[in-house]
Amino acid sequence: MSTTHSIALLPGDGIGPELAVEARKVLDAVAARNSVTFNILEADFGGAAYFKHGQSFPEATKAICDRADAILKGPIGLSFEESKKIPVDEQPERGALLPLRRRYNTFANFRPVFLPPELAHFSPLKPHVVAGGIDIMMIRELVGGLYFGKKEVGTREDGTRYVVEHLEYDEHQISAIMKIAFDEAMGRKKVLHNVHKSNVLKSSVLWNEILDEVHRDYPDVEVKHIIVDAAATALVINPRQFDVMVMENMFGDILSDLGGGILGSLGLMPSACVGPEKAYYEPSHGSAPDIAGKGIANPYSMIGSVALMLDKSFGMKEAADQIWLAIRSVFGAGITTADLRDPEGKLTILKTSEFGDKVVKAIQG
Ligand code: IPM
Ligand code: MN
Repeated sequence: MSTTHSIALLPGDGIGPELAVEARKVLDAVAARNSVTFNILEADFGGAAYFKHGQSFPEATKAICDRADAILKGPIGLSFEESKKIPVDEQPERGALLPLRRRYNTFANFRPVFLPPELAHFSPLKPHVVAGGIDIMMIRELVGGLYFGKKEVGTREDGTRYVVEHLEYDEHQISAIMKIAFDEAMGRKKVLHNVHKSNVLKSSVLWNEILDEVHRDYPDVEVKHIIVDAAATALVINPRQFDVMVMENMFGDILSDLGGGILGSLGLMPSACVGPEKAYYEPSHGSAPDIAGKGIANPYSMIGSVALMLDKSFGMKEAADQIWLAIRSVFGAGITTADLRDPEGKLTILKTSEFGDKVVKAIQG
C-alpha cells in the first residue's frame, strides 16, 4: 500500500487558479513516479471566497485546512478597485491570510532566494555580481511584530486623527525562530546573518539578547550581525556573502521582496510557512490581477512551493529534488513565460500550462 498525504489546495485570487492547475499536474507526476497518493481537497480562500461566501476565510475552508496534512496556497489579493468593495477587515490580506498564519501559528517563514546558473539571465544585477549563483535562505518570523501587535486608531480631543501599531515580541517567540535559523545554518554553511535595528528599536535589543542565548547551543555556527538598512544595500552589492539570514516579520517582508528583485521576479520566490503542527506553502508574490487569466504567469513559485511541501511536510526530499531539477532543466533549455525578463530576446516563451507540461515531462524523466 502506498502512503497517502492529504493536501488542502487554496487556489486564491488573480493568477492563483492558473498556478494551482500547474501544481496539481506536478503533484500527479510526483505521485506516479514515487508511488505515493496525494488526496487533494480544494477550498475557497481570499477575495474570491468573500464574493462567494461573504467571508474570505470561510468556515468550510478552515475545516478542510484543519484536516489536511499540509496546505498549498496560491496568491491572494484584489485590484485596488475590487478591494474597495469589501469591508476592510474582510479584505483578503487581513481577513484570510493573517488569520491563516495565526490559526496554525506558522511562525517560521522560509524564503529561498535561489539563483542557479539556469536562472542567471533573469537577474537584473550585473553578471559579475551573481556569478557562481546565489543561494540564500531568508528566514522571516511570521506571526509577531507589527503585523500582529495591538492597534489603535482614533481622534484626539483637538480633532487630530492618529494611529498606533505595536511592535511586540516576547522571548519565547524570538527563541523559537532563532532555533529554526540555527538549525538551518547547521545544515548549510554554518554562518547565520542576524538582521536587526538595535541602534533604534528596543525590540531588536531583546532579539539580539535572545539570539546570544540560543547561540550557546550552537557553538559551531558563526553569527554575523547586520543592521537592516545596511543589509538591503549589501544584498544588492554583494548578495553572495549571505547564506542563512534571520529577521523579524516586517524586515522579512521587505527584504524578501528585495530577494525577488535580485532574482529578477517575485515569480521566482516560493515559500514555506511552518508552525508547530502544520505548515502551509505559498508563492511570496501577490495575485497579479493585471495578468490574471492570460496564461502568461510563470508557475515556478507555486511549483517550488510544492517542492518545499514535499520536503518539509512529507519528508520526501528526493521527490522535492526531482522537482527542483526539473524546473532548472526547463529554464536551462532557454524556456520562459512572458511575465519574466527576457533581456536579450533569445528565450522561448511558453504559456503557463505549456511551461507546466515541460516541468511534468522532466519529472517523468
Ligand atoms: C507576503 C505578503 C503578505 C505579507 C501580505 C499579502 C499580507 O506580502 O507574504 O510577503 O505582508 O506578509
Ligand atoms: Mn510581502
